[in-house]
Amino acid sequence: MNPELHTRVLDRATAPYFDTGRFNRYWSRGKLGRDPIFAALLTRGMFHDAARILDLGCGRGLLAAWLYAAEQIADEGTWPADLPAPPRHVHFRGIELMGAEADCGNHALTIFNRDARLAQGDVRDVALGNPDVIAMLDVLHYIDIPAQDALLDRIRAALPPGGLFLTRVGDAAGGLPFRFSQLVDHCMAFAQGHGVARMWCRPLQAWVDALSARGFQVSTLPMSEGTPFANVMIEARLP
Ligand SMILES: C[S@@+](CC[C@H](N)C(=O)[O-])C[C@H]1O[C@@H](n2cnc3c(N)ncnc32)[C@H](O)[C@@H]1O
Repeated sequence: MNPELHTRVLDRATAPYFDTGRFNRYWSRGKLGRDPIFAALLTRGMFHDAARILDLGCGRGLLAAWLYAAEQIADEGTWPADLPAPPRHVHFRGIELMGAEADCGNHALTIFNRDARLAQGDVRDVALGNPDVIAMLDVLHYIDIPAQDALLDRIRAALPPGGLFLTRVGDAAGGLPFRFSQLVDHCMAFAQGHGVARMWCRPLQAWVDALSARGFQVSTLPMSEGTPFANVMIEARLP
């Protein structure tokens, strides 16, 4: 995505967070501005029009804000023809453990006048409904291994044929960059009220095996560009 377009999407996606408090303002700007995954989701055309997207561990709803901002720009006719068009009319639902983050996101997202709904809940026991896409970006390692496996089973059961499970994980075989991302994760989790959180990570191949064993077709893409981390995006589709 060219820098000019990136800045336009960023400005529009983060403007709604400006009156939700200083931390939220800087957080949204920093996260959407520097994390390569958000641009990649658009340039790779990951979501289809009218997709029902369930975002597990949605935080402040930044993924929804990003998609809505891109859609608005496309609706105004200024989206570059050489990029996939952003998805139109997606239905967005998010689940977030921290009620204050869900509240912040719900407040910010009203500006887009869409049906987005972020609810406080725990991904380990929340009903998943019938989404087309389940996104879970940088969240799986917050729950223990048996809970991860149980959730992967439920995600598999909730998705229709052709459904997409999109996640990003830290590759536990990723050496120093992985250990550095763990350190940053611990600091961020502490700053956001999780206390000293335990984290459960796996080597990338173990994630691929766990998803393949459940019938997903899995592809992976390093997703740390411009950062010192060992993060990998996993695109797991049902046939
Ligand atoms: C690193 S943040 C990622 C937020 C968001 N996915 C994003 O990319 O901006 C991880 C989020 O997962 C949430 N989380 C952790 N454990 C959870 C659980 N059991 N149920 C729901 N959310 C959880 C945290 O509160 C936090 O907001």
